Amino acid sequence: MRSLIKHVLRSSEPAADLHVAGWVRTRRDSKSFSFLELNDGSCLGNLQIIADTNIPGYESIPKIHTGASIVVRGHLVHSPAPGQQWELQASSLELIGEAPEDYPLQKKGHSSEFLRSIAHLRPRTNLYGAVFRTRSRMAFAIHRFFQERDFICVHTPIITSSDCEGAGEMFRVTTLSDDKISRDAEDFFGKRAFLTVSGQLEAETFACALSNVYTFGPTFRAENSNTSRHAAEFWMIEPEVAFCDLEGNMDLAESLVKFLVNEMLENNEGDLAIFEKFVDKGLRERLEFVASRPFERISHSRAVALLMTSGVEFTYPVGPGLNLQSEHERWLTEEHFKKPVTVFNYPKEIKPFYMRLNDDGLTVTAMDVLVPGIGEIIGGSQREERLDVLMENFAKHGLDPAAYSWYVDLRKYGSVPHAGFGLGFERLLMFVTGMTNIRDVIPFARTPGHCEF
Ligand code: 4AD
Ligand code: MG
Repeated sequence: MRSLIKHVLRSSEPAADLHVAGWVRTRRDSKSFSFLELNDGSCLGNLQIIADTNIPGYESIPKIHTGASIVVRGHLVHSPAPGQQWELQASSLELIGEAPEDYPLQKKGHSSEFLRSIAHLRPRTNLYGAVFRTRSRMAFAIHRFFQERDFICVHTPIITSSDCEGAGEMFRVTTLSDDKISRDAEDFFGKRAFLTVSGQLEAETFACALSNVYTFGPTFRAENSNTSRHAAEFWMIEPEVAFCDLEGNMDLAESLVKFLVNEMLENNEGDLAIFEKFVDKGLRERLEFVASRPFERISHSRAVALLMTSGVEFTYPVGPGLNLQSEHERWLTEEHFKKPVTVFNYPKEIKPFYMRLNDDGLTVTAMDVLVPGIGEIIGGSQREERLDVLMENFAKHGLDPAAYSWYVDLRKYGSVPHAGFGLGFERLLMFVTGMTNIRDVIPFARTPGHCEF
């Protein structure tokens, strides 16, 4: 059976009759043998292959260029070369797929913009291989975090008729032809339908039955903000906990981020070294710092006071009733506290209908976790569980309660305080890899004007 190079490189002793396969990174020929650097993407490292001129398959060597796929059988032996423990002494070689000279990844050091234009090939580079292995490990770690804490995974719908965030940024889903586009009753679902912006409302219903739940799935936003931190299609992790208040919610959010940072530090398959080398020299130090210290917690009003007395001239205005912009979030985390900051109790006017009103009548139990280099990575709140207050909120936000009758039922029948949040999966990946553009942590990014592949 074929061995993954990851396991071969970790061998504790020499082995006979190994079988590996992958894509050639480089080839060098000498008189009596050739060296091939082989990578199969299972880990960062290459396996060095020594192919003597007399082995079966050697005649295809002149056709084996960078990018070609090959299968090799042979013996794993200690390598005399510095910097590597093992090499494979080939006993046979088979060229599977040639890669002609126009293979785009001949040289190292391509720009991230260029690599985005060949997103189908970029996972074959060291950096993007590391990014997407990290993405996979982090996804698994997220499930592990929740499963180990008795959270139940709920698959909430991707097609929905309700706008959770009320921001009017939904992609419409329709089967109507252009000339009938406004005849909602004739549409597939008998009414307007959209791609979900959040699984929260549905997760709330399950929390109000199964206590601790989470969703982890794709979400879609048609916000036309062409920034390095926004995508039209991104993944969100949304836990929802019954009998939980704002404080419990902040505890859970912060412990999730710390858990994932520790996961990156302790179980990174060598990929962290690549991010440190090519992306961010101080990455490990920053992650260790975040893992070992408590997050700062401050109210929105205190954050505003700090910003107003900072002496910094921000582009966007700062004030008691205003939302924090990315530049403000970054000042708090990078300049002032120099660590992650959880901001809570935001003005009610700037937040969605479902957030619980505080006793002051002015703020809601919202919370955002902000991290250095990125700003907001988590947004959440305690939910309004009081029927009368929720009904007032619908009115204030201009929403039709009839459309949310199922959501209202939760407040009618055995209502409980509950809370939850959404962690942006790509923002988390940016944080733990140091990658500065969201397009570079998504296999095939969807952003305004871009839907290739
Ligand atoms: O703050 P948001 O909008 O919160 C919600 O959607 C809540 N319904 C979540 C909940 O309470 N269950 O989004 C949550 C997170 C943000 O903090 C951010 O990390 C990420 O989702 N996010 C985006 N990531 C990439 N591209 C976008 N356009 C994003 N919009 C939000
Ligand atoms: Mg938010």
